[in-house]
Amino acid sequence: MPVVLNADDFSALQGIAQWLMQKTGIYYSDSKLETLKHKLFKVCLDNRLTLSQLCTQLYNGDGQKTPLSLQVVAAASTNYTAFFREDIWDWFRYEILSDVMSRTQQIRIWSAAVSSGEEAYTIAMVAAECMGIEQLMQRVAILGTDISFQTLRQAEDAIYPIDKLSNIPLDYKDKYFSLCNNQSHCMVVHKALRSICLFRRMNLKKRPYPFKRRFHIIFCRNVLYYFTPIERERIVNALYDFTENNGWLIVSVTESLTSMNTRWKKIKGKTGIYRKE
Ligand SMILES: C[S@@+](CC[C@H](N)C(=O)[O-])C[C@H]1O[C@@H](n2cnc3c(N)ncnc32)[C@H](O)[C@@H]1O
Repeated sequence: MPVVLNADDFSALQGIAQWLMQKTGIYYSDSKLETLKHKLFKVCLDNRLTLSQLCTQLYNGDGQKTPLSLQVVAAASTNYTAFFREDIWDWFRYEILSDVMSRTQQIRIWSAAVSSGEEAYTIAMVAAECMGIEQLMQRVAILGTDISFQTLRQAEDAIYPIDKLSNIPLDYKDKYFSLCNNQSHCMVVHKALRSICLFRRMNLKKRPYPFKRRFHIIFCRNVLYYFTPIERERIVNALYDFTENNGWLIVSVTESLTSMNTRWKKIKGKTGIYRKE
């Protein structure tokens, strides 16, 4: 049976949800406030704050990225990710990457909610298999962005506990990872793969996006559900504007652009794959 929130907590959580919505676009409806309370438990404990005090401090922060506001954003967003997440990677390699490789020399790929980097390094491994390390380093640039500094730091470190590597085919693991010297239960991504990945903080809700050049392929997976329908539509349309003609958008197999007012064309028979025609 769901626990009923007391009136003070309910109104503090509504305030925090509204702050999150304004700052990040992350959307917690009233029915999700209980979940938000659980996520903020540690932030409140660490900072010795009640939910009402937390809410007040967020609004007093004047929109600055204070340590407290960053903690709240990190706690409220779900950072779960995985190497080779969802069954799209053969299609990515044989249809999308092959198509882009045949049309262009320099390939720009953006992972727009990269979390701790697994998505970017999966893209890099698949591309390395497709064209070899030398070509990869000459031709491919992968940008990974996220709102969370904390996860981006992990992405940059590129060090993962061995149990997080279980999805990776054994031969890829041998080729693209090595054991960390000082932590025997961790592996680090191959330097060549790291050298083509750049990680930056970016809020998808904040537009216009700061890019000079368009991308050939954009991954925007498992993040759209944070936003309201209208915000989702604005984001996918902003992604469209930053995609090269004939470029590709990959969302999660659990997300869909159906019922959005957008120019993206869905690939028939493929879930979560769209094209700019
Ligand atoms: C569930 S993870 C998805 C990671 C990866 N794309 C995947 O599919 O495995 C969602 C990520 O979106 C990020 N995120 C949430 N709101 C965001 C925003 N407004 N702008 C950019 N990133 C955001 C979170 O910090 C989190 O790392």
